[in-house]
Amino acid sequence: MAVLGLGLMGRALVGAFLRAGHPTTVWNRTPGKAAELTDAGARPAATPEEAVAAAELVVVCVSDHTAVRELLDRLDAADRDLLAGRVLVNLTSGTAAQARENAARVAATGGGYLDGAIFAVPPAIGTPEAVVVYAGAPADFERHAPALRALAADATTHLGEDHGLAALHDSAVLGLMWSILNGFLHGAALLGAAGLDATAYAPLAARTTVTVAGWLADQAGQVDAGTYPAGDATLETHIATMDHLVEESAALGVSTELPDLIRALAGRALAAGQGGAGYAVLVEQFRRPAPAAGHGAGE
Ligand SMILES: NC(=O)c1ccc[n+]([C@@H]2O[C@H](COP(=O)([O-])OP(=O)(O)OC[C@H]3O[C@@H](n4cnc5c(N)ncnc54)[C@H](OP(=O)(O)O)[C@@H]3O)[C@@H](O)[C@H]2O)c1
Repeated sequence: MAVLGLGLMGRALVGAFLRAGHPTTVWNRTPGKAAELTDAGARPAATPEEAVAAAELVVVCVSDHTAVRELLDRLDAADRDLLAGRVLVNLTSGTAAQARENAARVAATGGGYLDGAIFAVPPAIGTPEAVVVYAGAPADFERHAPALRALAADATTHLGEDHGLAALHDSAVLGLMWSILNGFLHGAALLGAAGLDATAYAPLAARTTVTVAGWLADQAGQVDAGTYPAGDATLETHIATMDHLVEESAALGVSTELPDLIRALAGRALAAGQGGAGYAVLVEQFRRPAPAAGHGAGE
């Protein structure tokens, strides 16, 4: 295979391919980043065209979509048919629309395209911790899945034919990650205002995160069914305690932005008559664009 882009992630991908015994040709825009990899057995290419010509599976992992575009332009300019019969796997982060744009470009050259998303940091690549998902034609995935499993042995998943699905999952999971971290950091700021260490709070926060993770399957079932029975607590009960969070934050001089957002979403559901439902009813607030400022703030 060939790997284009030898940044932190690209180098980790190459390391995993080599450890799994896959002959790997590598290229990076700025020379000098391949030395360690070539010592480990990678074959350096002087140009991306040379790297692509050496492989049926071409993995791209560069900074962003602009860099992917530039790379595709360069390959196109060198040889319009270079990607024909090959599969390009793009592991660069991006949006669903960007993935579909890349897929159309590569298809026009007669090549296959898989868009992937990596849920791991570079040192985890090739370990049981790594999760990598792919989207695109099933035949392209099946052809190269044995090699791609070198990156994430137990968690190499094909999401479907729509090339945008990997990026969409990436965005969803990043939103989840930032929500967990923001909740933790806001709590740390609250406790910090009372002179307490975040380190002392971390075990309780971690335990709560695990508890909440255990609720997700049930919440998902409610979201999919479109019914939100209040098993343990109604949204109204949640709202009363959300108000405590807003008040505590304001009283301690801590930012109220995050609690205000949480309270505003719940307030809109309450105004829609959903106060007696379970928490998952809030998905209906997320399903539509936020109301314009000054409108629909709730009860
Ligand atoms: N690092 C992570 O933890 C992680 C996790 C999941 C996903 N990702 C994704 O993986 C991708 C790469 O991340 P990274 O951590 O490896 O970033 P990085 O260390 O900054 O490396 C960026 C790479 O992109 C190359 N590049 C930038 N612009 C280019 C262009 N116009 N043409 C050709 N090559 C270009 C750089 O080449 P030069 O050496 O010439 O600058 C470098 O090889 C990103 O999309 C990132 O979101 C990273």
